[in-house]
Amino acid sequence: MKFIITKDYEEMSRKAANIFAAQIIAKPDSVLGLATGSTPIGTYDRLADLCAQGDIDFSKISSFNLDEYCGLSPEHDQSYRYFMNQHLFSRVNIRMEETHVPNGLADDMEKEGLAYDAMIREYGGIDLQILGIGNTGHIGFNEPDDAFPTSTHKVELAQKTIEANSRFFNSIDEVPKYAITMGMLSIMNAKKIILVANGKGKADILYESCFGPVTPKVPASILQLHPDVTIVADKDAASVMLEKVPELL
Ligand code: F6R
Repeated sequence: MKFIITKDYEEMSRKAANIFAAQIIAKPDSVLGLATGSTPIGTYDRLADLCAQGDIDFSKISSFNLDEYCGLSPEHDQSYRYFMNQHLFSRVNIRMEETHVPNGLADDMEKEGLAYDAMIREYGGIDLQILGIGNTGHIGFNEPDDAFPTSTHKVELAQKTIEANSRFFNSIDEVPKYAITMGMLSIMNAKKIILVANGKGKADILYESCFGPVTPKVPASILQLHPDVTIVADKDAASVMLEKVPELL
């Protein structure tokens, strides 16, 4: 694992966007793995700026998102398809038909998951995957479990995740209880991974994920086994790591 520790959210977003920009410049037809949530919004803002300035070109890029809430249509303003259109896709010159988000309305989630993984394989796998981290240690919506889930699948969201995500909804009762998420196979097969984290609330789980035992009880800990992971964290999210592993600075 590599660590980039930044002074604040703004710098975290810039550094993460720079890694994306380098990837897009080096391989203009890259397959990007994308995340939602509040953490990557600044990264997507920077990427939109870089595209508007003509520094990066999304015309040959394709993308696969990690997850989607079950039961929300793409038009629902809390669906992850809507989020991606709003924060990135409508602001860059990506071909909409080359953007993929799991279908949260699929009748058969198992079939949808297998088809999603097959499509990722047809595209040659993900070149660069961005991840956030939930306070349960989830990546995508892979919640703590007895085993690491492999393929894209339907998952019941942890109560802690429902509570954390209720900030985006009018009330906690509106938060979907289920989601469809990429499993660990497509994530771990990505050639390069960056995980972005900011704020004190992520400090304990980030330390556990990076330096604790590799266990499905802390899903992000699996990243310790990947050969090319960069953690981009602001100093608040990195605070427990810095206290326990001061050599990181
Ligand atoms: C979203 C996703 C989740 C989030 C995580 C952190 O696509 O995969 O794992 O990255 O819940 O969310 P924020 O950034 O809102 O703290």
